[in-house]
Amino acid sequence: MAEPKEITRRDAIKTAGAVAVAGAAITKLEGAPAILKARAAADPVKYGMVGTGSRGTYLLKHLKGIDTGACVAICDISDDALDKAQKTIGGNPRRYKDYRELLSDKEVEAVFVTTPLFAHFPVTRDALEAGKHVFCEKSLVFKPEEVHALKALAHSKPKQVLQVGLQRRYSAMYQAARQMIEKGLLGEVGFVQAQWHRNPGWKMKKGVPNERMANWRLFREYSGGLVAELASHQIDVADWMLGMTPEAVMGLGALDYMKDGRDIFDNVQLIYKYPKGRRLVWTSVPCSTHWPGVGGARTEMGEIIEGTHGTIHITIGDDNNRPIGMWFREPNPPSKAEEAKKAAKKEEFKAGATMVAAAGSRPLPILLSKDLMTGKESFLEKELKYARLWLYQKGILVPEEEKNPVDTALEAFFHDTRTGGRPKADLEIGLQDSIAVILSNLALDEGRMVYFNEIENMGKPGAPARPARRG
Ligand SMILES: NC(=O)c1ccc[n+]([C@@H]2O[C@H](COP(=O)([O-])OP(=O)(O)OC[C@H]3O[C@@H](n4cnc5c(N)ncnc54)[C@H](O)[C@@H]3O)[C@@H](O)[C@H]2O)c1
Repeated sequence: MAEPKEITRRDAIKTAGAVAVAGAAITKLEGAPAILKARAAADPVKYGMVGTGSRGTYLLKHLKGIDTGACVAICDISDDALDKAQKTIGGNPRRYKDYRELLSDKEVEAVFVTTPLFAHFPVTRDALEAGKHVFCEKSLVFKPEEVHALKALAHSKPKQVLQVGLQRRYSAMYQAARQMIEKGLLGEVGFVQAQWHRNPGWKMKKGVPNERMANWRLFREYSGGLVAELASHQIDVADWMLGMTPEAVMGLGALDYMKDGRDIFDNVQLIYKYPKGRRLVWTSVPCSTHWPGVGGARTEMGEIIEGTHGTIHITIGDDNNRPIGMWFREPNPPSKAEEAKKAAKKEEFKAGATMVAAAGSRPLPILLSKDLMTGKESFLEKELKYARLWLYQKGILVPEEEKNPVDTALEAFFHDTRTGGRPKADLEIGLQDSIAVILSNLALDEGRMVYFNEIENMGKPGAPARPARRG
């Protein structure tokens, strides 16, 4: 198939029409409607934060710009962390060193749990017992017994919101990807490749007060290592995109590079077996940040979601690099290949072969609501949209989400707290994610295939120290 010499504006519109299906339904998913926001702002959710370290202050920086919540209390065992938090959020939140005191503060309606992983469960449990709504960072819980205990407890508190810090669930770009899959644009999705590569990876902080706690991520006593801190986000993406949860996991974990006293692995590769032959392969290496997705435009982390009819590259980014994604059509989808070719020829005749030539090699934009034609645009707005689509199509511009999904997730938490809504990253999603983390680490430690139903017997009274292999 000949490459078109010049992609015309008309081609861009044609392509946009074909992929608009991905964005057509997402408007309602992008945050709370303005009217509800305005009403909630008059009655902001009064929250406290437990654990005001790096993530806590990052969230406070974002929370400062959200008027549907008001910080009334902060808690940390470190004065320095409390000082930084107070400076970040401003105002005059009450300061606590013991989280139980924050929980008995009557004014606090909702609690952010941003402590190290080992402390997520006790704080979340006590916060729910105290009648508070909870936003707990990922990974939700640390140990098998905590999975069972939190499930029972949270189910007994149906009126309290429990949201988990899996912000990809709140991203319009990830939601558009999920809708593309639902609408069949990728055909049968069979494989997810996800990576979080760093160079060199977490460094040990030396000469700081309470050195071991300051480096909690590096010690198994407090941390689930790379799997809990990084893979947890991406296993959740795979579950979401595949629409199922894994049956088993196996992998290789080693401490190869950073032998500085840490006891977690720094080099991890995992394979997840899902029903119907689906797979997730997750890798984390500490010797390169290269990511081959999105044309090499981003580094470190991202997911490649592959189906019989197409593939999506997607990554969340950070404060400076918003979520981006692109997709590729499969050149020869296994079914209806002849029809596709015939349709392609017809298309080429009509519109200059844009879609067909793009198959396999050229990325196509994943369109968000801002790019879709509603028919209500002014002349200028229409021209701007056409121009943007044309630039996307030429590969000069990649559609980027306008909002940081962290902000969307925080706004949604306050919204759900006021309306009784169900979080997109709720208890079930958080627990499933924690189960995956716990079992992945077991697979790495024991060097065997671990079955997901093993969790049922783990952490229960009378359970064997090492669960029997099942499934
Ligand atoms: N969603 C995301 O993308 C994302 C990103 C980064 C971190 N996180 C999560 O946020 C959590 C915190 O990570 P971090 O990087 O901020 O760690 P950190 O070490 O920088 O901060 C943790 C803070 O908790 C405090 N703390 C420890 N025990 C406490 C207790 N019992 N009561 C009150 N405070 C206590 C510590 O003093 C410290 O200030 C982790 O679970 C991590 O996985 C999530």
